[in-house]
Amino acid sequence: MKLNVDRFQESLRTKRFGKKTVFLREVDSTNDLAKELAANGAVEGTVVVAETQTAGRGRLGREWISPKGGLYFSVVLKPDVRAGEAVKLVFVASLAVAKVLRELYGLRVETKWPNDVLVDGRKVCGILTEMNTTGETVNFVVVGIGVNANFDVEEVFPEPLKKLATSLENELNRKVRLEELFTALLERLENVYDQFIREGFGPVLKEWRMYAGFLGRRVEVTSQTERLHGLALNVDQDGALTLKLEDGTVKRIFVGDVSVRTR
Ligand code: BTN
Repeated sequence: MKLNVDRFQESLRTKRFGKKTVFLREVDSTNDLAKELAANGAVEGTVVVAETQTAGRGRLGREWISPKGGLYFSVVLKPDVRAGEAVKLVFVASLAVAKVLRELYGLRVETKWPNDVLVDGRKVCGILTEMNTTGETVNFVVVGIGVNANFDVEEVFPEPLKKLATSLENELNRKVRLEELFTALLERLENVYDQFIREGFGPVLKEWRMYAGFLGRRVEVTSQTERLHGLALNVDQDGALTLKLEDGTVKRIFVGDVSVRTR
C-alpha cells in the first residue's frame, strides 16, 4: 500500500486503534502476524497492515487472494467479555466496514451473514476473526479485514471468483486513497467496538440488520456438513441465522455461507 506513514499517524483520530501499527510490503498473512504479536503481549488496538499477502486466509480454510492495490490489515483486540460474546465481533467489523464504504463513497453496501460486505451482490470485503481462548476466557481476538480496493477483479482474480467479487475500483471507476480508507476504517471500527463493549450486542445488531439485504429473501445456506434452503428470517441475539425451511420448521444456524436464490 502506498501509505505515507507519518501522515497516516497524524490524521488518525482514534484513542487506541492503530497507535501501534506494523506496516509491511509483504507478509504471509496479517492475521498470523497479529496473532503472534498478541500472544507476545501486544496491546489492544495494535494493527498489522500489508501491501500484499502471500498466504492470505479466508473463512473455512479458504485462500484470500491479496493482490497489490487491496487493503489487508488485522487488529488485535482484548475484550473483557466471554468467548460466547466475542464471536459477535464479526458483526462489529462488518458493520464498521459497511458504514465506511457508504459514508466515503456513497456505495449501496450490504452485509451478508455472517461476515461479508457486498455491493450489488458481489463481495468487496471479507472479514476473518480468530480467537484465542482459555475455556470461556478470551485472551485475544484478531480481526482481519481485506478490502478489494484498487484493482480490477477481471484482471486479477481467477475465473470462478470474477462473478462473485467486485472491487471499489470496479464500482467507482476510479482508484481510492488507501490511506483515507484505512484511517476511516480504524476510526469506525474503534467506535463500533467501543459501543459493543459499553452497550452490548443489541444496538450493533440493530444497525447491522439495516444493511442485511438477504433478510426476508430465499437463500441457500451451505456448511461443511449440509446444504439448506429456506427463508432468511432474522439474525438473533446470539448471532445465529434463523432460517424457515421449506417444510415450515425454523432452524438456527451458527456456521455457514449464505447465497441469495434468484429463483
Ligand atoms: C473471508 O471472506 O473468507 C475472510 C477473508 C479475510 C481476509 C483478510 S485480509 C487481512 C487478514 N489476513 C488474512 O490472512 N485474512 C484476513
